[in-house]
Amino acid sequence: EAELIHKFKGISFTTRSSPELLNSLDTFDAREDDVLLVSYPKSGTHWLAGVITKLYNTPVTLTTPIELGDMSKLEELNQLSSKRIIPTHLDYNMLPQHFKNKKCKMIYISRNPKDTAVSMYHYYRENPNLPTVDTWTAFLDLFLEGDVVCGSWFDHFLSWEEHKNDKNILFLFYEDMKKKYKNFILPVSQNLSKIVKEISIFLGISISDEDIQDICKKSSFSEMKKDTEKENSDPSHTVCALTSNRNLIFRKGTVGDWKNHFTPKQNLRFDEVFSEKMKLSKMAKYLTYEF
Ligand code: A3P
Repeated sequence: EAELIHKFKGISFTTRSSPELLNSLDTFDAREDDVLLVSYPKSGTHWLAGVITKLYNTPVTLTTPIELGDMSKLEELNQLSSKRIIPTHLDYNMLPQHFKNKKCKMIYISRNPKDTAVSMYHYYRENPNLPTVDTWTAFLDLFLEGDVVCGSWFDHFLSWEEHKNDKNILFLFYEDMKKKYKNFILPVSQNLSKIVKEISIFLGISISDEDIQDICKKSSFSEMKKDTEKENSDPSHTVCALTSNRNLIFRKGTVGDWKNHFTPKQNLRFDEVFSEKMKLSKMAKYLTYEF
């Protein structure tokens, strides 16, 4: 088990991210038109990646995460001639300096950490690249201590939130993308279409309302899961540094699954840690719809 994980600057990475690569990230040459897709694992990265790639009508390449692989990774990215959409689970401090200097566009997606923890627990159980965890209770301890891959959820979120006013960073929330509401025109309308519009404006892409509706339809959980099962999308192309099996990604895709896992006591303890760690956070409230 020890060989699945190594620590770099105090954060756990799988051996799929080599220490040499992590060490040389700062030498990476960013391009001004690179777009970064940033997340803590299990926050809806693949969902967002699906939306973003469908938005472009020019050739773009959705790469594997920048921190995945060995030294050849940087060269591989250098050689891409098309525009690059680059996913990453790195916290802000570890992000290659060039992306910051060049003010590349970055989209950060986050999710209620209770649901993120539950999603990650199932991922740990199914994913051969991650250590075994025996019980949900044991996993929750690790999660709250930040002793899981990619480090503490809280540190990750806070490192990015510090940059919430940077013009080149767009913050999105899983729950927001999932939200449905009633209006007078349609019986049920999806908030996702508003967010897709927002993303298109942020990325400077012009797109019709009809195409937006189409993207929303194709990006539903059931459609994306079906596509993956039919291998319509490359089954080995994940935007998560922790697996190469896309089938592990589409588990349930709901808001509030934590209620099926947390005991009342665990919930209280989580809320305590959350309010302590997030006491200076201005964005915490967007993560707590279901709290
Ligand atoms: P669950 O495990 O709660 O089902 P990531 O892509 O960052 O690894 O996140 C994976 C989570 O996003 C999983 O959560 C997965 O089901 C959910 N997800 C993936 N595609 C989705 C979609 N189209 N709509 C809603 N949720 C989706």
